[in-house]
Amino acid sequence: MRFGFFLGLAGKDAEALGFVILHGRRGTPMPPWREHLSEGEARWIVEQLQKGFPK
Ligand code: HEM
Repeated sequence: MRFGFFLGLAGKDAEALGFVILHGRRGTPMPPWREHLSEGEARWIVEQLQKGFPK
């Protein structure tokens, strides 16, 4: 887990972040998580990250 990437997520578009969680980012080490997470769970993760988790 690369927590450094989560710094400064508060100002980003929540829908776009949820999309990255589910589909990954091609050409980067960010893998897709859609086999493991529902859309609702991805949304919940985005909410936590934008609130400042992890500290
Ligand atoms: C549950 C686990 C994970 C979650 C929730 C997660 C979430 C995210 C999110 C939301 C972004 C977008 C950040 C942004 O647009 O500013 C991102 C980017 C990224 N993640 Fe993850 N990630 C996870 C696991 C991982 C793992 C295991 C790796 C690598 C081994 C990884 C590597 C990356 C990288 C390299 C990026 C930047 C991609 C780019 O250059 O655009 N992530 N991640």
